[in-house]
Amino acid sequence: MRGELYILLILPPMIACLKISSFEVPSLLVPGDSAYLTCLFDLGGEKLYSVKWFKNEQEFYRFFPSLNPQYMAFRAPGIHIDLTKSGRSTVYLTNVTLETEGRFTCQVSADEPFFGCVQVHRNISVYVPPEESPEITGEFTDYGENLTLRCLSARSKPAANLSWYINDVMMVPEGSVLSHEIIRHHDRLESSSAQLDIPMGSSSLPDGLLRLACEASISNFVTSISKELLISREHNDQPPQQHIDPQEEVNSQDSLRALGFLLVVTMILWIELVG
Ligand SMILES: *[C@@H]1O[C@H](CO)[C@@H](O)[C@H](O)[C@H]1NC(C)=O
Ligand SMILES: *[C@@H]1O[C@H](CO)[C@@H](O)[C@H](O)[C@H]1NC(C)=O
Ligand SMILES: *[C@@H]1O[C@H](CO)[C@@H](O)[C@H](O)[C@H]1NC(C)=O
Ligand SMILES: *[C@@H]1O[C@H](CO)[C@@H](O)[C@H](O)[C@H]1NC(C)=O
Repeated sequence: MRGELYILLILPPMIACLKISSFEVPSLLVPGDSAYLTCLFDLGGEKLYSVKWFKNEQEFYRFFPSLNPQYMAFRAPGIHIDLTKSGRSTVYLTNVTLETEGRFTCQVSADEPFFGCVQVHRNISVYVPPEESPEITGEFTDYGENLTLRCLSARSKPAANLSWYINDVMMVPEGSVLSHEIIRHHDRLESSSAQLDIPMGSSSLPDGLLRLACEASISNFVTSISKELLISREHNDQPPQQHIDPQEEVNSQDSLRALGFLLVVTMILWIELVG
């Protein structure tokens, strides 16, 4: 039962060929959405017996041309149907919730003499975009040699993918250690947490001011970027000094070891809102 178009023929090959010519359902919905599900079929000369709709094998809508009323809706989790906008080939879903997600099937059956039956499936996912931007925090460890950054995304579904940007370039500097974790909440939403340990001596780090940011994305639909964390990283012969934004807590150490060149002479952290 794999693939998007699965055709089941109950009887031996028929001359007339019942087939589903078009099956259109959105693959992604957001809670609160409404959507048309459309299943167009070609009876190929046969007589229609029924059109049935299922979510995860549970029937939620039926069209029987010979019955009165011809349409019937059944209870199923997360399924709310506006019957005034539904018909022979169409179901109008309203008030989508997280429970709406699942595998949707349209099944078309012909009447005698052939009783042909065809069906198609497609998955609908429900996603919840994060309401806030991801948040980035940072601290220097190991006498300022290493910078540990943490990025936490707001609740969403599915959990967002997190990417790191340094001076607007998506990158993980050479020698860094990256780890990810997904936090599952009771309301079925999820947050992503990513930690990046950057050795400040990494040769792939640009010199001067580093603008660090973290981006949360869900497929191509939602992207949201954190406030920037700014760090000054300079070659310099002057004695080490640090200027730290009072709002940020950073391990400050006087002794900085040389790593090929003298670095992290001035560390300035401040936060800037990015458009
Ligand atoms: C959808 O929700 C609205 C507001 O909560 C409600 O008035 C309406 O009856 C609901 N529709 C269905 C088909 O459940
Ligand atoms: C559709 O969802 C079912 C479970 O609900 C899953 O087993 C299946 O792999 C999904 N198919 C696709 C194409 O994503
Ligand atoms: C900085 O981090 C790296 C990688 O985790 C580690 O190998 C190194 O020892 C750390 N630096 C110091 C001074 O501890
Ligand atoms: C995260 O990235 C992986 C690999 O690119 C992708 O398969 C997955 O769909 C993405 N997840 C989200 C929530 O965007």
